[in-house]
This record gives sequence, structure tokens and C-alpha cells, in this order.
Amino acid sequence: MNASQEIEVLIRAKYPILYIVSWEEKRVEEALQKVCTNLNRTLHTWSVTQGMKPAVNRPGGQVRTSTLPGELEALALVHEAPEYTVFLLKDFHPYMKDYRVVRLLRDLANRLRGRAETLILMGPSLNLPTDLEKDITVVDFELPDAAAIEATLDRLIEAVKGNSNVDSSLKPQQREALVKSAQGLTQDEIESVFARSLVERKKFDLDVVLEEKKQIIRKSGILEYYAPDAQIKDVGGLEVLKEWLDKRGDSFTDKAREFGIPAPKGILLLGVQGCGKSLVAKAVAAQWNLPLLKLDVGRIFGSLVGQSEENIRTAIKVAESVAPCILWADELEKGFAGVSGGGVSDSGTTARVFSTFLTWMQEKTAPVFLMATANDVSSLPPEMLRKGRFDEIFFVDLPDTDEREQIFGIHIKKRNRDASKFNLKALAKASAGFSGAEIEQAIVSSLYAAYDAKRELMQKDVVAEVKALVPLSVMMREDIEELREWAILRTRPASKKNPA
Ligand SMILES: Nc1ncnc2c1ncn2[C@@H]1O[C@H](COP(=O)(O)OP(=O)(O)OP(=O)(O)O)[C@@H](O)[C@H]1O
Ligand SMILES: [Mg+2]
Repeated sequence: MNASQEIEVLIRAKYPILYIVSWEEKRVEEALQKVCTNLNRTLHTWSVTQGMKPAVNRPGGQVRTSTLPGELEALALVHEAPEYTVFLLKDFHPYMKDYRVVRLLRDLANRLRGRAETLILMGPSLNLPTDLEKDITVVDFELPDAAAIEATLDRLIEAVKGNSNVDSSLKPQQREALVKSAQGLTQDEIESVFARSLVERKKFDLDVVLEEKKQIIRKSGILEYYAPDAQIKDVGGLEVLKEWLDKRGDSFTDKAREFGIPAPKGILLLGVQGCGKSLVAKAVAAQWNLPLLKLDVGRIFGSLVGQSEENIRTAIKVAESVAPCILWADELEKGFAGVSGGGVSDSGTTARVFSTFLTWMQEKTAPVFLMATANDVSSLPPEMLRKGRFDEIFFVDLPDTDEREQIFGIHIKKRNRDASKFNLKALAKASAGFSGAEIEQAIVSSLYAAYDAKRELMQKDVVAEVKALVPLSVMMREDIEELREWAILRTRPASKKNPA
């Protein structure tokens, strides 16, 4: 069922108040007009600038004179209106902070229930006062689907036919890719991005559409588009994790769907600091060739109450509109910490945001792969770790000797040095307890030392830095032990061997 059909059902079932979440006033209004024609209702629309159109016929026909503020007047008109009417109030959300408006809406909900009269509010974001949650039914008006995008494309191709300056031809494959890439844009955005491509590039160019999508992601303010700047070969060790990821590389294709494979949901990487959790997230995006969207968990919890719930909904929507993609929730515990504490300080907002997120994780059908990372389990709510949320929870421990050898090799090569000129085994042996980040740090410091001594980097420089560095695992031995104990029972190790 699409949004239009849903709205039609709700109007017929005499639901009193609907809230349509959408940016697209024109599309929503057109859809409502169709529904109203089908159902024989008169559609009245109201905005603060235009007032009520068409005017409402009062019983007896007299004109209403009013000194009420516009928004209250609009509600009064709805209250007095005859049956077989539908009212669309645009941009009404700012008024819902007013207690009088809230009260009037509750009264209206009672009056309209069972009457053939429907009040519809619409706005780009959802932010309902708690008092109204039970009285209002929310409808998400979805963005144009593939068929609608194709129709737009065809209209445009028709319009430029005969113009020898532009090449509007598309091979079937290009056409499919173009339509897919435009999903997640509004009707207006689709029209302008296609037109822009024809003007700028003289043809339909996928890159122009993708650029537009990056804009959307940026504007959302909560997601960040990450250019994949790491490769799987930059990750040392973690063989089990790498194998798991490798096996699923092709599972986002239509072919995999036909074969009966569901798109993987996501994984949680839990573990010791600096051992490559964030690195793997970035490398997977490159390996799977999918866009990587970083979710700023801290920023979700905006300063205003109610905003956080809106934020998480937006983030989910944007991610789904870009799907298939990887949603990277780095340092998850920073945002969701203290949920189990009952949200004492923020009147349950954290808990509500959290439950929205959990529900989405459980039920999502769009191919959005969630890549979550965390250092500290104790602050993560237990519900999060229940079966079915993540495909797998991996424990990323400190690298063992073999893994450290690999990591030394990777970072020496990364600095354009020949790794075979170094005794990597000896370095690995000398650096027990080091994380990948500390190995990298030792290499960088040794480069400074060599540069200062005005000669090429040598084994002894690296050895000296390794000796000088006290790894975090020494200072945090007890914490790490505790984490390991917890992880043994509940997670899968990301590496084959045990650390030494
Ligand atoms: N397994 C590894 N292989 C190669 N390099 C590594 C590895 N682990 C860590 N590094 C190096 O250390 C840097 C920091 O690691 P990263 O940010 O991925 O750690 P993390 O596990 O996310 O840590 P934190 O828990 O502090 O966020 C990486 O950018 C990389 O250069
Ligand atoms: Mg990290």
C-alpha cells in the first residue's frame, strides 16, 4: 500500500486527525485531491499566508468574522465545518507548541471521530507533543518510486527531443542505474538534477545525481558522507572478521536476492581501543563499493527535547534513501549510554530514541548495513545485544604476535619503505600488548627520529620507539581482562589466535 492508498483508507475509516510527513507539498496536495475526488469530499487547504482555500461554507451561509490568530481561526473553521470535508493545514508544526492549539486539536479529535470529516496536518518533520500522540495518526509520504522517476525521465527526454545539442539517449543499463540513483530525492530535486545534467554535461550523467545525494546527506547534519580512504589490505590480522565480510561482498546485488539471500543487517565490533574497528568500517565500504555514511551518535541527542527523536528518524530515512549503503555508527555507547538508567535526566528521550533505533534494526528491509563499533559494553543496553539485532557481534582484541608482524609491515609500507628490510618478527616480539594504533605511532615516531638524525629509517629506530612506548593495555589491564571475560561468552573473536 502506498501513502495515497493509506490516506484513503484512513479517511474512509474516519480517523480524525492525520499528520503527513513530507517536504513535498505539491505532490501531497495532488495526491489528496485525487483521494478526495474518489471519496466525494471537498478539500480545503490552509496556510498562514493564504488562509483557507476554498472558503468554508458555514451553515446558514453567513461570513465568519474573527479576531482570532490565523491558526486558531483555522481550527475553529474545521470545528464548524459540515461533513464530507478534508482539511489540509500546511506547516502547522510550529503552532503545536502552543497549549491552546494542543487543547483545540484534542477537542477536534473528539469531535471528528466518527464524522466524515478529516483534519490533515503536514510538515517536513515530525515533532508531536506527547499529549497528542494518541489522537494523531502519522503517515510517511514516501518519495517518488522507480516508476515515478521513470515517468519524469521520459517527460524530460520527450521535451528535449530534436535538440541536437544534448544526447538524451540511454542504454537500458544506464537507465536503470540512473533511476536507482535518483531514489531518495524529492520530485522537484529529481526534475532539477536531471535538467542540470543535460545543461552541464549535455547528457544524463550519474555523477551529477550522486553529487546531489551527497548534498542531501550533508544537509541532514547528522550523517556524514565518508569517502572510503582505507582498503581491506590495510587491515592487519582480524582474519575471521575479514572472511565473514568477504563472503558477503556480493550479497547486495539483485542476483543474491534472486538466489534467496537476504541482505546482511549489520555487525557490532566490540573491543579494545585502537585495534582497527573504525579502520575496518572504512575498509568494508571500499571492498563492497558502497557509500559509507557515518552517523554521529552524539549529535542525535540535540539540545532540544523532541529534536533527538526527529533526528534519528531523519538519519534512518536519509540512509534508506541512499541504500544500498553502509551506516556506520561509531562509538555507539557514547550516544546510548545510560538508557537502562531510565532516562532520569532527559525525561526518557534517550530511551525513546533508542527504541526507535532498535525497532528499525529489527525490522528494516532496505539494504542498509549497520556497522556499529563500541569500546565499552557495560554502558550498552542489553537489548541491543540480543539475537536478531546484529548478524554477528565480533570481539576485536589486541593483535597477537603474527598480527603485529603484519601490522608493522603494513605501516612501514604505507610510509613508502621496503618492509623486507626490517626484521618484522623481532618488532612483533618486542611489542607485546601493543594495539594497531600504537604500532602505527611507534613507526611515526621513529620516522621523526631518523629524520632528525638526517638518515634513512632503520630497525633500531623502530625498536627504540617500541621500547619507549608504554601501551595502554598495561595501564588498563584490568579493564581489558574484564571485557575479554565478558566477550568470551557472548561474542565471536575477530581473530583466529589468542593475543600474546
Ligand atoms: N589491525 C590493524 N591493522 C592496521 N592498522 C591498524 C590496525 N588497528 C589499528 N590500526 C591503526 O591504528 C589506527 C587507529 O585504529 P582505529 O581507529 O581503527 O581503532 P579503533 O578500534 O576504532 O579504536 P577506538 O576504539 O579508539 O575508536 C588506524 O587508523 C590504523 O592506522
Ligand atoms: Mg574507532
